[in-house]
Amino acid sequence: MQLIDGKKTAGDIKLELAREVEEIRKSGGRIPHLAAVLVGNDGASETYVASKVKSCEQVGFKSTLLRFEDTVSEAFLLDQIEKLNNDKDIDGFIVQLPLPDHISEHKAIEAINPRKDVDGFHPVNIGRTLIGLPSFVSATPAGILELIKRYRIETSGRHCVIIGRSNLVGRPLSILLSLKNKTGDATVTVCHSRTQNMEKITRQADILVAAIGRPGFVKGDMVKEGAVVIDVGTTRVKSDLTKSGFKLKGDVEFDEVAPKCSYITPVPGGVGPMTVVSLLRNTMLAAKGEIYPV
Ligand code: GUN
Repeated sequence: MQLIDGKKTAGDIKLELAREVEEIRKSGGRIPHLAAVLVGNDGASETYVASKVKSCEQVGFKSTLLRFEDTVSEAFLLDQIEKLNNDKDIDGFIVQLPLPDHISEHKAIEAINPRKDVDGFHPVNIGRTLIGLPSFVSATPAGILELIKRYRIETSGRHCVIIGRSNLVGRPLSILLSLKNKTGDATVTVCHSRTQNMEKITRQADILVAAIGRPGFVKGDMVKEGAVVIDVGTTRVKSDLTKSGFKLKGDVEFDEVAPKCSYITPVPGGVGPMTVVSLLRNTMLAAKGEIYPV
């Protein structure tokens, strides 16, 4: 069994990005610039956005954080998004979710110019992904594909079973793995809350992805000997062993499952650290005009 070290891989990618920024700087080019919009004071969102801004600093990107009270109107937010769309100094931006209930997330996402949608949430980017056109792919599926690529895990012809059909992870990943390309060509099955005899299906998986947000859901007897297991779960559970009183637990019962696997991602330190670097990579692609040439 080999651990897939997301923390190390994310560190490697940050170094690669930092080197690329240095080259741009030397040749007098424009430094990539990411903006993040944060509405309100949701604790988890604050942490995520702080980590995105800090990661920009680490690789030498410019970053701008726009913070608004949770009382701002939808019209105000849409106006701010339009300003960012038109700001020539900003290559890409994100609107951190969730938004307060009185603001439509769909409207906010659809207001983002797809060329600057480095989260890959806009329907145009999702549609382009669906038909195999260059697109911004959202952070978690992009991070998983990057781990699969860097660990040289073969997907072609293999049976990938994904547990979870969320818009953010399960569904886009199912599309990406079935595309006709190097990190695709897989036979994909998506399991969800209405799936019957799930264990029978998961036991057929060459690559099993757990993305349902139910800690410890995948048990040893649900996994085939030699399978690759990717754990996307990051639920905060109580723990006496940590200072904070919490620890992150994945969707996979690691101790039971790991001995059966060829490869497995740990939690923490697996998929999680890859998500921020995927956003940074998308920002670099936006700055270079590689998805939507000008
Ligand atoms: N909320 C939780 N994850 C994300 C993310 O990847 N992007 C944005 N914009 N909001 C989130």
